[in-house]
Amino acid sequence: MDKFVIEGGVPLHGTVTVSGSKNAALPILFAAILLDDPFTFNNVPRLQDIKTTIKLLELLGIEVEHEEHTVKTRLGNLLPEAPYDLVRTMRASVLCLGPLLTRLGRARVSLPGGCAIGARPVDQHLKGLEQMGARFDLDGGDIIGRAHKLHGAKISFDLTTVGGTENLLMAAVLAEGETILENAAREPEVVDLANFLVSCGANIKGQGTSVIHIEGVKALHGLNYAIMPDRIEAGTFLAAAGITNGKLLLKNCPLADMETVVARLEEMGMDIRNTSDGVLASLGKTGLHGIDVKTQPYPGFPTDMQAQIMALMSIASSTSMIEERIFENRFMHVQELARMGAQIKISGHSAMIRGVPHLIGAQVMASDLRASASLVLAGLAAQGTTHIRRIYHLDRGYEKLEEKLNAVGARITRVSQ
Ligand code: UD1
Repeated sequence: MDKFVIEGGVPLHGTVTVSGSKNAALPILFAAILLDDPFTFNNVPRLQDIKTTIKLLELLGIEVEHEEHTVKTRLGNLLPEAPYDLVRTMRASVLCLGPLLTRLGRARVSLPGGCAIGARPVDQHLKGLEQMGARFDLDGGDIIGRAHKLHGAKISFDLTTVGGTENLLMAAVLAEGETILENAAREPEVVDLANFLVSCGANIKGQGTSVIHIEGVKALHGLNYAIMPDRIEAGTFLAAAGITNGKLLLKNCPLADMETVVARLEEMGMDIRNTSDGVLASLGKTGLHGIDVKTQPYPGFPTDMQAQIMALMSIASSTSMIEERIFENRFMHVQELARMGAQIKISGHSAMIRGVPHLIGAQVMASDLRASASLVLAGLAAQGTTHIRRIYHLDRGYEKLEEKLNAVGARITRVSQ
């Protein structure tokens, strides 16, 4: 297992390029199940989660060629089974359920660890697919879905779910008749999936709003599509400029999708400007101030940036509050930041962060993808050396993070243990 060793305290300066979006690429690659013709996906980030997705597509009978940032797919003999070995490493594997059911009328997809059918986290996916005519059973930890032919339905989600909206969208594009998704997720990645499907001939209206109309078509045809840039990776780089008191120019930064994140970082004291060369980010003269943030579905502040902004707050000149409203257990980075001297108190879904003058390097452990990013940010700002274990989480979602950061002055070494 690799670890990062970070020598902190160096302001980052230079240009960094944002990769393709992980969370857009995953559903869009699963949508290859829906395509009759060979297809080329461009701007695909090079990540562990993408490798897992490709492995799964291959097991499902899709022929895949993967080179650098390009993935080419060709429909082979489609099979309906997504095994536990792959699904347990990536929850997003459940995104093959809608495409398989609409294409084959059957699917066997392992449930990600410990989740009972009907309960979190996929009850909304299943409920919607049932309304479209699917039936589900649970067998040995697998969801078994069957459908004669999926038909359109009016589906109102009980809560806003990104993956649920994506699964239903993919199921509906080839279903018979009209599907209406109410309380749909408005995340830019959902819009990118819809735009990709439309580019292949799907009939979708309302993506980006909370009501999406889909009129089923007989088949989808297309040639190629470029995945949108990653707004969470971009947000992490903005935070890196702020926490190190450096200045970064971000190329391919999807600023229009990042309004809330940019507004909160500006409120903390950052200066973020759109220029003809890219997005320029630095810390203003007055330094970092504490602010209050609550995570919400898009266009609210993304839960995937919560851990990173907490790292900034931990060295702000005043106190901050974070309310986490999307996930129940998403403060695992707090105890690790505390090992670096951060002063954070958790109470239920909220965290109070009292800024300290500086963080101090320490041995810490990454617990999940965005928590790892927050520890990297803390390590970049800290005095001394930080050792981050379990960085395989980072490799799932950040393309060559240490190379990109080292190119703008960071001192990060990857050590194999
Ligand atoms: C996606 C993102 C993830 C991000 C999250 C919220 C991908 C691959 N992952 O995850 O990075 O943090 O959106 O923006 O795109 N829920 C249910 N029942 C369901 C579905 C969800 O109760 O059937 C709950 C979840 O437990 C969670 C909340 O709804 O508390 C939001 O989950 P959801 O939007 O579905 O997240 P994902 O699609 O899994």
